[in-house]
Amino acid sequence: MEMSALWKLSYGMYAIGTLDGKRPTGCIVNTVIQITSDNPVIAISMNKNNYTYDCIKRTGRFSVSILSEKTTQNVIAKLGFSSGRDTDKFDGDIFAWEYMDGLPVVNENSCAHITAEVITMTEMETHYVILARVQDAKVTSDYNPMTYKYYHEVIKGKAPKNAPTYQAPEKITDKETWACQICGYIYEGDLTKEPEDFVCPICKQPKSMFKKQ
Ligand SMILES: Cc1cc2nc3c(=O)[nH]c(=O)nc-3n(C[C@H](O)[C@H](O)[C@H](O)COP(=O)(O)O)c2cc1C
Repeated sequence: MEMSALWKLSYGMYAIGTLDGKRPTGCIVNTVIQITSDNPVIAISMNKNNYTYDCIKRTGRFSVSILSEKTTQNVIAKLGFSSGRDTDKFDGDIFAWEYMDGLPVVNENSCAHITAEVITMTEMETHYVILARVQDAKVTSDYNPMTYKYYHEVIKGKAPKNAPTYQAPEKITDKETWACQICGYIYEGDLTKEPEDFVCPICKQPKSMFKKQ
């Protein structure tokens, strides 16, 4: 089987928002699709290990913020490379957000916001496919929605192992390389020469999270 055939599938970039009790939480997904048009139903693919999954299961509700090409890497780093289990992702002023129908939505250059109520969850090996009825939807800008291809090819972003479309990074150089253990970003050269406050350009983790390959 040619796995690379699956890499030809297209996706977008989305922030899922939900609640941990009263605390807003959520994560990044690239898998949101519209399933029906009348009284619309959407589907997302959510890793069983994501804290967001636990919270959606408890509350039965989530929001989708459709990210644009102008959305900063800070939003993706915060929501896509750390867990709401041990971080308050919506705390501080890293990105702008607000509540829509009681659920957190990202305002930082997003294109649209959707809120949805879970209909059913189908269990696969690593992920749940969550089908949900759209409750409300609002266009927030006319910016171009960020595609997964744009995120990889223009922003040079990575996806962690929890993403259903994860691809292990390839070694593409003979130079010394260091891999970020969080997002897989490959640093070429001698990382020890970087200052102590160096952070991964993709997931903003410190130098200590890099391992020499
Ligand atoms: C570009 C990108 C795409 C992602 N796509 C998905 C996805 O479709 N489904 C999923 O379950 N996780 C996906 N993730 C991973 C989660 O966002 C990540 O594991 C997050 O840290 C989970 O946080 P939580 O434990 O607070 O839920 C993606 C992450 C990135 C950066």
